[in-house]
Amino acid sequence: MEYRHTPVLLAEVTQHLSPHPGSIVVDCTLGGAGHAKRLQDLVAPTGTLVGIDQDDAALIAAADTLRLGQQTILLKGNFGDLDRLLSEAGIPYVDGFLFDLGVSSPQLDVPGRGFSYREDAPLDMRMDPERQALTAADVVATYSAADLTRIIREYGEERWAPRIAARIVAARARRPLETTTELVQVIKEAIPAAARRTGPHPARRTFQALRIEVNRELEVLEQGLRAAIRWLTSGGRIAVISYHSLEDRIVKNVFAELSEGCTCPPDLPVCTCEHEPVIRVLTRKPVTPSAEEIADNPRARSAKLRVAEKR
Ligand SMILES: C[S@@+](CC[C@H](N)C(=O)[O-])C[C@H]1O[C@@H](n2cnc3c(N)ncnc32)[C@H](O)[C@@H]1O
Repeated sequence: MEYRHTPVLLAEVTQHLSPHPGSIVVDCTLGGAGHAKRLQDLVAPTGTLVGIDQDDAALIAAADTLRLGQQTILLKGNFGDLDRLLSEAGIPYVDGFLFDLGVSSPQLDVPGRGFSYREDAPLDMRMDPERQALTAADVVATYSAADLTRIIREYGEERWAPRIAARIVAARARRPLETTTELVQVIKEAIPAAARRTGPHPARRTFQALRIEVNRELEVLEQGLRAAIRWLTSGGRIAVISYHSLEDRIVKNVFAELSEGCTCPPDLPVCTCEHEPVIRVLTRKPVTPSAEEIADNPRARSAKLRVAEKR
């Protein structure tokens, strides 16, 4: 299948990362290499582009788009394992990191993967089926009503979480919920008709919650950001595009914590915390796409870009 994904905030990312010939840049979410292609051009001919993705389909598409050679290193893996991936590839330090979070358009569009509530497919949602065991069907089949409520509320920010969880538990007692269509039906029945008529698709929040749980997305994001900042050389930059408030909050909090200096109480005569700022945040407010970009690419609508520089 053709891999089509329009890169989001491309001009803003390249402007903020400002890679130059000779830079070592790591794209931790390579996808179809929409951003990586531009970054590769900017670091050429002597710089290095490292592209990481946990999804084979993305790596195959990226290999088609990028110029391959010694200056291009494509790595299959999870950015939660960034230290291991970069050490094993012999990368000495990094000048620029990009994280363009979430799923790519093809992942959403390929019915067999179960990410989309619009297609009938097995409830899978694993980004790396080879290495991950837990599927969305397992979560729906085995989690208690309390745990389902917690993840649907926290990761989906869904106000009807207790009702949806209760319906799932009741439905699975009759027969296992194995497909996206079966789950969508249960979610629709759980949400009052008046609430179903407004806002996004009724299953959107629950599907987001299951995807985050299956792929441990928030935990892995925090690990990846902290590791990336350790690898940055002084003056190097990290750019992160997030697509929902849970991700954005993690980026904002990690950046805030690592840009903070002394945290001792003001009445303490000398500093005892020895807290040194590690980064400088370059985007006090997140950068968001223009109205034109959103009109051209509706998937950009919730994007927020934050950038920081290593001190
Ligand atoms: C939004 S897409 C990136 C699109 C890319 N910037 C482009 O322009 O083509 C996100 C990609 O990150 C990958 N991804 C998400 N979480 C990941 C993780 N924890 N480790 C590695 N790859 C991840 C997904 O497989 C997907 O291909």
